[in-house]
Amino acid sequence: MDQRVYELLNDQINKELYSSYLYLSFADYYEQKGLKGFANWYNIQAKEELDHALIFRNYLHENSCDVKLLAIDQPDKEFTDFVQPLEAALEHEKYVTSLINAIYAAAAEAHDYRTMNFLSWFIEEQQEEEDNAETMVTRMKLFGDDAKALYDLDQENAARTYSVPSPLAGKE
Ligand code: FEO
Repeated sequence: MDQRVYELLNDQINKELYSSYLYLSFADYYEQKGLKGFANWYNIQAKEELDHALIFRNYLHENSCDVKLLAIDQPDKEFTDFVQPLEAALEHEKYVTSLINAIYAAAAEAHDYRTMNFLSWFIEEQQEEEDNAETMVTRMKLFGDDAKALYDLDQENAARTYSVPSPLAGKE
């Protein structure tokens, strides 16, 4: 595998693990604030990010590449209102999209069609991730100031359930 593509793929394991850590910290914030539904949403989001890391890790193994696990940064955000973590999540997902695009561009440059094909799942996933994050921001801005509406939003987020992403199905 092209060295640059390899390094970006390996680094993405770390980026996805950091995403998981970041969303755990958001879950902690909402848990402390009594919004257990939002905490549930981000606990599940954290699991999905761990899954994303495992998908990249599996891909490296399947291509006989070494996996180098790197130190994970500490999430350090402080929040003063309920919308801030949601905005931070949207910003973070846009950043992750830019990382996936950069790997895809490097793979294209190296004529690594297998990696381009592998990344297509993530390209679609990032669209969904950004869309979900944006919806969370919009709904909190629209309804978050009303206690009853906030309660309903929290209930909706409490109903989110985890499911194994298709690239990991049968491999967990
Ligand atoms: Fe792994 Fe939320 O993107």
